[in-house]
Amino acid sequence: MTKLSVLGFDIFKEYLDADAQHEVLTAVRNVVQHAPLVQPITPRGQPMSVRMTAAGPFGWITDRKGYRYARLHPNGMRWPPIPAPILKIWQEVSGVSRIPECCLINFYGEGARMGLHQDKDEKSFEWPVVSVSLGDDGLFRMGGPARNDKTQSVWLTSGDVVVMRSTARMAHHGVDRIRFGSSALLSKGGRLNLTLRVVT
Ligand code: SIN
Ligand code: FE2
Repeated sequence: MTKLSVLGFDIFKEYLDADAQHEVLTAVRNVVQHAPLVQPITPRGQPMSVRMTAAGPFGWITDRKGYRYARLHPNGMRWPPIPAPILKIWQEVSGVSRIPECCLINFYGEGARMGLHQDKDEKSFEWPVVSVSLGDDGLFRMGGPARNDKTQSVWLTSGDVVVMRSTARMAHHGVDRIRFGSSALLSKGGRLNLTLRVVT
């Protein structure tokens, strides 16, 4: 593992070894079996290119009614609990004793991306956001609190963990593109990103 700090983002390269990646992947597959991935629609009516689901008391959803945390999957079911191997990562890297209330699961298939945004639907920004990447490489762009602040990009690869706290907590970030098929972890290709958040 090597640790980088880029514009206040703490990036732990190769945080999870191959066994740990498989363990987290199995846990994610279990969640997805109970809470299927859905293609969300932005409030303006545009389908997002990533597919999403979540674990924990809250999931983050978007539809014509807006961006928000919700206690129920769009299909009306509660989200499954956050699996233990994922909670363990939070406990190791977050530096806080609160437990995350949402593990958002984003799946990037071929051509999927995520535009530059801030995570700001949570009640308080004092808690970090922890991100875990699995599968194909993703080009992660990091900026600052203002949309037009200068940015820097890093390729996140399978097993990398990013912690967004203090100045980076309100910084813009996004995923410009993935290298579809670059990792063998997911046999059909694609990238999974988990973000752990305290919501209330
Ligand atoms: C996100 O900001 O929600 C996702 C970041 C990523 O996919 O690495
Ligand atoms: Fe985000």
